[in-house]
Amino acid sequence: MLSRKNAHRSLKATDMSAFENIIYEISDGIAWITLNRPKALNAVNTKMRDELYEVIPAVKDDPEVRAAIIKGAGDRAFSAGADISEFGTAPSQTIAREVRWERDLWGMFLSIQKPVIAAIGGFALGAGIEMAMCCDIRLASDNAQFGLPEANLGMVPTAGGSQTMPRVILHGHVSQIVFTADRIDANEALRIGLVNQIVPKEQLLSAAESLARKIMSNNPVALEYAKAAITRGLDLPLDQGLEMETRLASILNSQRNRL
Ligand code: COA
Repeated sequence: MLSRKNAHRSLKATDMSAFENIIYEISDGIAWITLNRPKALNAVNTKMRDELYEVIPAVKDDPEVRAAIIKGAGDRAFSAGADISEFGTAPSQTIAREVRWERDLWGMFLSIQKPVIAAIGGFALGAGIEMAMCCDIRLASDNAQFGLPEANLGMVPTAGGSQTMPRVILHGHVSQIVFTADRIDANEALRIGLVNQIVPKEQLLSAAESLARKIMSNNPVALEYAKAAITRGLDLPLDQGLEMETRLASILNSQRNRL
């Protein structure tokens, strides 16, 4: 197993060519993260989690990366969630839980200070939709389908979804999705605010790239501070959020004045 220290070292795309379940590429400042198990609808297995655990620090730390786009390989799925064939394979529930806590993958994902876009083509279920919730902006293909099937399997969402989703959409919608375990289509996802935009499936990646490039035309430090203000503010009472916004704006101003 990778130690935390090693896992956090900053890697370049070339270091990751040996990955099995993730493709990591950088192109003109955009980090493309591809969940790459198309035959299993890009289900998240332990290996993919391990590889994501190496990729995310690279996105965070590499100055060449200005924005990231996460997508699924193939045209059927962003990700069909946790790999159900691995369920129950840990030596014990306690060990499974310890491993998850030791590696706070989703917390690490949320700590990326750069803009992250999810390009959701096809199924986004369980950990798939939860991963998309860790992104700043979600684009969906017109054939996308979303759902949290955990309740149907006697489980609760554990890739952060019970916490991240109510920060994106109204809690009544979250409860309905979680309690019924029903799937919703792209139109319904747009209606309730789960995704920002629907695009024809052939145009999904180009739309994600255009959006990333438009964002990247703005000042990277301003984007970092704006992301901090928006995401951290969600966890603060309004008065403290406003204070934080003022603080961030004044730090940014003083940095600009020094240039
Ligand atoms: N874990 C592991 N393998 C998965 C998977 C998952 N979460 N989701 C799909 N797959 C695999 C299937 O086993 C199948 O593999 P096979 O071709 O070797 O049999 C392949 O992906 C294609 O899936 P299939 O079920 O044949 O496609 P479909 O179009 O009939 O149905 C889904 C698509 C997404 C509705 C269905 O695959 C599904 O319900 N998957 C499970 C979703 C889930 O419960 N995720 C876990 C959340 S906790």
